[in-house]
Amino acid sequence: MNSNAFPADMILPAPDEIPGHIAIIMDGNGRWAKKKLLNRVKGHEVGAGVVRTMVRTCSDLGVSYLTLYAFSTENWNRPKMEITALMMILKNFLKTELQEMLDKNIRFQSIGQIERLPEDVQQRLHETVEKTKNNSGMVLNLALSYGGRAEITEMVKNIALKVRNGKIDPDDIDSDLISNCLYTKGLPDPDLMIRTSGETRISNFLLWQLAYSELFFTNTLWPDFTREELIQIIIEFQGRERRFGKV
Ligand code: IPE
Ligand code: IPE
Ligand code: MG
Repeated sequence: MNSNAFPADMILPAPDEIPGHIAIIMDGNGRWAKKKLLNRVKGHEVGAGVVRTMVRTCSDLGVSYLTLYAFSTENWNRPKMEITALMMILKNFLKTELQEMLDKNIRFQSIGQIERLPEDVQQRLHETVEKTKNNSGMVLNLALSYGGRAEITEMVKNIALKVRNGKIDPDDIDSDLISNCLYTKGLPDPDLMIRTSGETRISNFLLWQLAYSELFFTNTLWPDFTREELIQIIIEFQGRERRFGKV
């Protein structure tokens, strides 16, 4: 943990029990904007600033993996104008945050049906992955055009093909093989999952991977989410007993 990044009087989580992988459903941008009589897009813009804060905070706390749900497969059903604005914000974010990722030794990657994103966004994603690929600090994993059911469907198809081609036997299929056929291959399952905005559902996020994650729901809308609240949640997480089915 980089304690210098925090005010001296701030109560911080125990450094030896920082969750290795935090996953966040960043929800509530639209309602935040509506409350302020602003356009939904303004909510997404302010939300992108909060992403910046959370990436920095998690990296400073010593989190190893941060997965952020930025756009779901279902979000393709939103008005075209909102989707276009979200893609612009994403592209800008990748551009403005590259230096910060390099400075903080952050490795960038994404999960989801990336091929459905506009070409220029795909290009920018590719560049960001390339430029940060040798970094050894926190992994920032953006879930984009991501859906847990689509991910599982693809995994089943891949395994079925391998069986048909005689590469594997049905008896070889176990939970490690399945994990290795998901977009999140190589990442540990999230220890902690947070959803903002008061909704208490998963909305097709990491269906397989959240099996034993600790879940936290806060009423705070994403643009109002602060590093203080994140730290509060991590401290509460550290007080929970994770039993994994044992006594
Ligand atoms: C989350 O905020 C951002 C995305 C899903 C892209 P929303 O846009 O879902 O905000 P609400 O839920 O309408 O308030
Ligand atoms: C979940 O939020 C997806 C993201 C935060 C990217 P939604 O706002 O799309 O979820 P629902 O529609 O409320 O379930
Ligand atoms: Mg929402």
